Amino acid sequence: MVYKNIVVEKKDGIAWITINRPKVLNALNTETIKELTDAVSELEDDKKIKVAVLKGAGDKAFIAGADIKEMKDMSVLEAKNFAEHGHHLLSCIRQSRIPFIAMINGYALGGGCELLMSCDITIAGRNAKIGQPEINLGISPGFCGTQCLPRLVGRAKAKELLLTGDTINAEEAHRIGLLTRVVDDDKLLQETEKLAKKIGSKSSVQTSFIKALVNKGTDIDMHSACALEVSYFSSSFSTFDQKEGMSAFLDKRKPGFKGK
Ligand code: CAA
Repeated sequence: MVYKNIVVEKKDGIAWITINRPKVLNALNTETIKELTDAVSELEDDKKIKVAVLKGAGDKAFIAGADIKEMKDMSVLEAKNFAEHGHHLLSCIRQSRIPFIAMINGYALGGGCELLMSCDITIAGRNAKIGQPEINLGISPGFCGTQCLPRLVGRAKAKELLLTGDTINAEEAHRIGLLTRVVDDDKLLQETEKLAKKIGSKSSVQTSFIKALVNKGTDIDMHSACALEVSYFSSSFSTFDQKEGMSAFLDKRKPGFKGK
């Protein structure tokens, strides 16, 4: 597919998706959100893809939020449609069989912070700056920030960040559980690739099972979640990868997973 605002590159089972609007710090307008949604769907159908990395073009920002220029004169209905497009994209990422890594260089604000929270793993350079500054624009977050943030960092810290609009640095974001990893800025690309390759070398049946189990299981009661785990665990025993993984262990060799 041809995209105007994003670039999708595929190499060694990894899809690198770059939001490519560096002049506006990769702000998310409607067109970019739609292209990202199409890209997620395209990758979903490409069985060679085992991991996806989302990143921003340039060295200043992952995403500085939703596009303020586009939003400024929106009507109530247009704002509703815009928020629904954003929610749909985040939901497609969460429901994808593919593990998504957000690689954060620089600013991840507003919609950028919301997009990173929909990803499975978040890795940032030390200079990253993260926050939900919507309150400073006279709005509340529209792409799930008020719902994802408390689930990740707890209600109190989420309310502090949402009510002040303050931006925090990568170390603090890591400390409160908003980022899974922080690395030196000059190692960010290399460490992200290493992480993506490691996950890509596992059974892609199991990476999709684990992602689904954690995402679905933490949204339902413990009893139902445990039943879900038993069901996924037992169905693993119908796969090639289970036979291969266990045989390889007993043969003292590396497994050759096939994702089936
Ligand atoms: N939307 C549109 N344009 C943006 C943008 C955004 N979110 N963020 C930055 N830009 C544009 C700027 O307007 C500027 O354009 P011009 O060169 O044409 O003036 C360009 O990007 C560079 O930005 P700055 O000159 O402001 O760069 P800076 O280094 O001085 O500051 C910054 C960087 C602190 C990130 C600052 O740009 C900023 O505060 N941006 C807005 C952040 C924000 O409020 N995000 C939340 C948006 S609302 C939202 O996301 C709602 C939701 O939940 C869906």
